[in-house]
Amino acid sequence: MTSAEPKRKAFSLYSTFYSIIAAIGGFLFGYDTAVISGAVGFIKERFDLNAGMTGWMVSSLVVGAAAGAAASGVISDKFGRKKVLMAAALIFVVGSVGSALASTVTGLIIARMVGGIGVGMASTLAPLYISEIAPSRIRGRLVSIYQFAVVTGIFVTFFVNAAIAGIGDDAWDVSTAWRWMLGFGVAPGILYMLLLLLTPETPRWLMKNKQEVRALEVLERMNGKQAAKSELEEIMNLKVDESGSIKELFGSSLRLPLIVGVALAILQQITGINAIMYYAPEIFKQTGAGTDAALTQTILVGLVNFAFTLIALWLIDKVGRKALLLVGSTLMTICLFAVGYGFHSPDVPGHLILFFILLYVASFAVSLGPVVWVMISEIFPTRIRGRATAVAAFCLWLADYVVSQTFPMLLEGIGTAATFWSFAVISLVTVVFCAKVVPETKGRSLEEIEKLWTSGSRDKV
Ligand code: BGC
Repeated sequence: MTSAEPKRKAFSLYSTFYSIIAAIGGFLFGYDTAVISGAVGFIKERFDLNAGMTGWMVSSLVVGAAAGAAASGVISDKFGRKKVLMAAALIFVVGSVGSALASTVTGLIIARMVGGIGVGMASTLAPLYISEIAPSRIRGRLVSIYQFAVVTGIFVTFFVNAAIAGIGDDAWDVSTAWRWMLGFGVAPGILYMLLLLLTPETPRWLMKNKQEVRALEVLERMNGKQAAKSELEEIMNLKVDESGSIKELFGSSLRLPLIVGVALAILQQITGINAIMYYAPEIFKQTGAGTDAALTQTILVGLVNFAFTLIALWLIDKVGRKALLLVGSTLMTICLFAVGYGFHSPDVPGHLILFFILLYVASFAVSLGPVVWVMISEIFPTRIRGRATAVAAFCLWLADYVVSQTFPMLLEGIGTAATFWSFAVISLVTVVFCAKVVPETKGRSLEEIEKLWTSGSRDKV
């Protein structure tokens, strides 16, 4: 070990620390999107909602998130990543308070949309912040902390929901429990805002805004004096944001990465993960479970998601993104067909359906879950990454909206079995897309990835 190594490790501690703070945005994302799963049944009863209104109430957050994601690239270019992340946390807190206090379903939908704007902004900017602050040699791992925070948020939510629902009787659940579930998001929101005070603005944003002295200070704190200087020069040479116009984003040189990023973002959603994440207790009730059992089984979903995401973080730089995508989406396809069959045939016991749902979640957690976020933060050239990631994140939220809005309607319209079979067919398409179009980016520098798109050597990877 050279004498420089311990120093480098110590300096990485700063970027890891800042990345963990930024990643809490993922926690808010996970918490706020999944909290509805435990509350939806009670809210439906409280406001006497039909399937269409239920879907709208669930997905209103996602509509806000799509808007927040779309706006975040441009707004944060102007005001800075850190400030806009703090604003996102504040908006999130306002949305949580509003949801908890809502007295009409319209009020609730508006409050969820507001909270969603915060979630969407944080979902785009947290990985972006990390990728702009991280030393390139550990960027992949640091961005992955973000997905880990998402699933932690989901897991904690399921736990909090089950705990709150366990406090009172059914009448209390319908009148009050869901308010506590939605309102609990205030705590991580405020914590996020306070912790963000400890983080610096990213050196790349500072450079773009001609604050070289501050950029150098941040780089020195993270990388040491020597490395800071050369990194500063590198950023200057890259002219980070100057040449990356919206027009270029849709130009032919970026067409392929954009297709891959957007398609992966959409496929991640339309293979049905959030039908499970947002509606799990309702699905489990259909297999014959009671309210409390359904919430407990939902905790299992969170646990499996959490555990298998950890496994993915360990595997992603070893076996590669593509291998995880292929194995994961193949397993997802099999499970979705099995779940559909389970609902189709009355002879299949509820616990077998539960098993295949859990296996499906595990397969998602080692593949599409983390890999999509890692890939949309690494496949675009640095100078255009902010805006390109925002476009992919926007499409992801839009697809999420379509699924969460239509899922209750699909259940009523074509039935549970056919709904899961539809997800299965899309999952099969995902397998083919990943096999044929998605390149392997493991172990490549961002510059190498950039060259991959132009050299036509994708098939050789
Ligand atoms: C997805 C979310 C999903 C979560 C589940 C994320 O990668 O973007 O929509 O709820 O994974 O773990």
